[in-house]
Amino acid sequence: MACNWITTVSLVVSLSFLVIGVASSSSPAPNSSNVDGSNTDLAALLAFKGQLSDPLGILARSWTTNVSFCRWVGISCGRRGQRVTVLSLPDMLLQGELSPHIGNLSFLNKLNLTNTGLTGTIPSDLGRLRRLTYLSLFGNGLSGSIPGTLGNLSRLEFLILSNNRLSKQIPPELLQKRLIPTQISNLRSLQRLYLFRNKLFGSIPDSIGNLTRNLIRILNTCSNLDFRALVLQYMPNGSLEMLLHSEGRRQLGFLKRLDIMLDVAMAMEYLHHEHHDVVLHCDLKPSNVLFDTDMTGHVADFGIAKLLLGNDNSLITASMPGTLGYMAPEYGSLGKASRKSDMFSYGIMLLEVFTRKRPTDPMFVADQSIRQWVRQSFPSELIHVLDEQLVQDASSSSCDMMNEFLLPIFELGLICSRDSPDQRMSMSDVVVRLTKMKEEYAKSTSVARQTVQ
Ligand SMILES: *[C@@H]1O[C@H](CO)[C@@H](O)[C@H](O)[C@H]1NC(C)=O
Ligand SMILES: *[C@@H]1O[C@H](CO)[C@@H](O)[C@H](O)[C@H]1NC(C)=O
Ligand SMILES: *[C@@H]1O[C@H](CO)[C@@H](O)[C@H](O)[C@H]1NC(C)=O
Ligand SMILES: *[C@@H]1O[C@H](CO)[C@@H](O)[C@H](O)[C@H]1NC(C)=O
Ligand SMILES: *[C@@H]1O[C@H](CO)[C@@H](O)[C@H](O)[C@H]1NC(C)=O
Ligand SMILES: *[C@@H]1O[C@H](CO)[C@@H](O)[C@H](O)[C@H]1NC(C)=O
Ligand SMILES: *[C@@H]1O[C@H](CO)[C@@H](O)[C@H](O)[C@H]1NC(C)=O
Repeated sequence: MACNWITTVSLVVSLSFLVIGVASSSSPAPNSSNVDGSNTDLAALLAFKGQLSDPLGILARSWTTNVSFCRWVGISCGRRGQRVTVLSLPDMLLQGELSPHIGNLSFLNKLNLTNTGLTGTIPSDLGRLRRLTYLSLFGNGLSGSIPGTLGNLSRLEFLILSNNRLSKQIPPELLQKRLIPTQISNLRSLQRLYLFRNKLFGSIPDSIGNLTRNLIRILNTCSNLDFRALVLQYMPNGSLEMLLHSEGRRQLGFLKRLDIMLDVAMAMEYLHHEHHDVVLHCDLKPSNVLFDTDMTGHVADFGIAKLLLGNDNSLITASMPGTLGYMAPEYGSLGKASRKSDMFSYGIMLLEVFTRKRPTDPMFVADQSIRQWVRQSFPSELIHVLDEQLVQDASSSSCDMMNEFLLPIFELGLICSRDSPDQRMSMSDVVVRLTKMKEEYAKSTSVARQTVQ
């Protein structure tokens, strides 16, 4: 089994960047062990610098040995002694590999190398940084696996590794429970975990909790861990976007389409209604519906997913936009995301699957949208908007496909994509309707078969 991990915003938990250090009556001069430690840190920083090409000369200018390293750009030291507690050079082009000697910075509390052009692998020596509370390597070109030694970082609160090229198995050591009962898991202080946009494979550590989907394998970890993760299975069979629109247009019958949209609805229902906190997808579209080896549809890419805390907060203001054509009007213009904005995207997708027309098709210009186009033909002229393949299916079917099944499908798509969020259906209702429709379709085809015999 292979997986791709995605996490969403966690509960707000009070931060614990406490300033350690008490007013001391004695001189703060470093003792001899600090001097040794200080030399260790200096050597480690120089080794770190030595691995980077530093094309803008940021380190070349600032990281010079005629000044204390505590005054180098991106470095902070603790109050007692000359020990590095912060190494933070985000959004600075450094390029090169991350030196394993960085693991010698034994007082390091925060390591922020977001968007710095790092390549190569994550050194396992980072697992020696036992005081680390914040680690971000977001937005680099790091490859290889996540070292299992990171599981040793018991004080780590933020682990941000998204937007890299990390692959291979998610190391079980990362989130494994220890045998010692007082320790919940290796990363027991973890509040937020971001692993999305990588290529992680491998079995999912059992210890995190049991997996639920259908489409999504979603993890709601033990509440005392205070983080939420969504785990997705690896999907080898492409996306709904490819299935609908790639060259050659694969044959795709009514039942298969119905199944896919039911898979999606069930996944979304889980996110919207069966999860302790409500999760919004915010970017539901055919390219985010992926197929496993059995061609079961799974919802993917929670890159901009939102977590609503509790059921009462039914609306949030989202900062990142979804995709044009699928985005609900109130989300697009006001940034208001809710379960109902996901419903809109679902409705548009339903229309797309049965018309085989993208909402971004050039034919939809100015005021004409896919929804309006379908609505103008609804209910008596639906044959004009129906995907040709289904027109053939419908004409060869023994039952009245158009009125019994296709009409209710289009009606559902139109209701879900209404302008007014309040008038859209809920995902649970969609699941009920589609399930019933599938049963009826199965019944009608088996009756038809018996009649023929
Ligand atoms: C010297 O510094 C280390 C590290 O900060 C500390 O653990 C140790 O207690 C100090 N020793 C003395 C004698 O101050
Ligand atoms: C870091 O520590 C290791 C092991 O203690 C040591 O072998 C290595 O030389 C140190 N690195 C630097 C740059 O001092
Ligand atoms: C340290 O040396 C660099 C050149 O190596 C020089 O540009 C810089 O001004 C020096 N800084 C101080 C504080 O002497
Ligand atoms: C790390 O750097 C990123 C990018 O600049 C920034 O958004 C983030 O707030 C930083 N994190 C910390 C804890 O400093
Ligand atoms: C860290 O983790 C690794 C792998 O999980 C383990 O073998 C090792 O003993 C741990 N301790 C240190 C200090 O690296
Ligand atoms: C997962 O479920 C199985 C059986 O359903 C159960 O035996 C196991 O303890 C569960 N694991 C966790 C971590 O909850
Ligand atoms: C799905 O993927 C599996 C494994 O890669 C392959 O054997 C199968 O033919 C694929 N099915 C479809 C419908 O593409």
